[in-house]
Amino acid sequence: MTRGRFIVFEGIDGCGKSTQARRWAAELDGRFVFEPGDTELGAQLRTWLLDAHFAMGPRVESLLMLADRSHHVTTVIEPTLDQGVDVIADRFFASTLAYQGYGRGVDLAELRAATSLAIGSCRPDLTFLLDVDVSVARQRGASRQDDRFESVPGDFLERVRDGYREMAASDSDHWAVVDGTLSEEDVASRIREVLAERR
Ligand code: TMP
Repeated sequence: MTRGRFIVFEGIDGCGKSTQARRWAAELDGRFVFEPGDTELGAQLRTWLLDAHFAMGPRVESLLMLADRSHHVTTVIEPTLDQGVDVIADRFFASTLAYQGYGRGVDLAELRAATSLAIGSCRPDLTFLLDVDVSVARQRGASRQDDRFESVPGDFLERVRDGYREMAASDSDHWAVVDGTLSEEDVASRIREVLAERR
């Protein structure tokens, strides 16, 4: 049986990735998944991770994200791909590199090594970066003060966005950057073109 395709949507909150990921899971008759929190264990980890009232250093944050991801890969993502079904993910390992690495300053080489431990060889076939300015994302109202990641002041989200752009630019075979300020339909058209080009 042909293995399913693993397609990931990434970007800062408010970029429109969740809408597109759900849409493409339906269009491709695939399985929609998300991180963090898509399993019973992950849902518990997500409440710890997002609740800004628990103090936690960036390494702990990284390790909890990776624990969520490792469990998600083993129990959901790999078995689904093995059944020949496409998996369409709202965030995957690039989120940890962008937020905890570029954003919080955790060493990128160490994060990549820890990621390998967590997910082995399970890598996306293609990752879409829906790129928007931080100011646009904020205007879209994605910011939530009780969310650990959305409530960080200063240029945190700028670093996260720059990190995403750097990762996409350095691996264009596996990434496609789409202007997330376009309308939902125009973003979807661009994604359709890329999927057709990279069959
Ligand atoms: P969500 O809003 O897309 O559900 O993601 C929740 C928050 O978690 C979001 O602000 C980004 C953050 N996050 C990380 O910091 N590192 C990660 O590895 C993942 C998956 C999410």
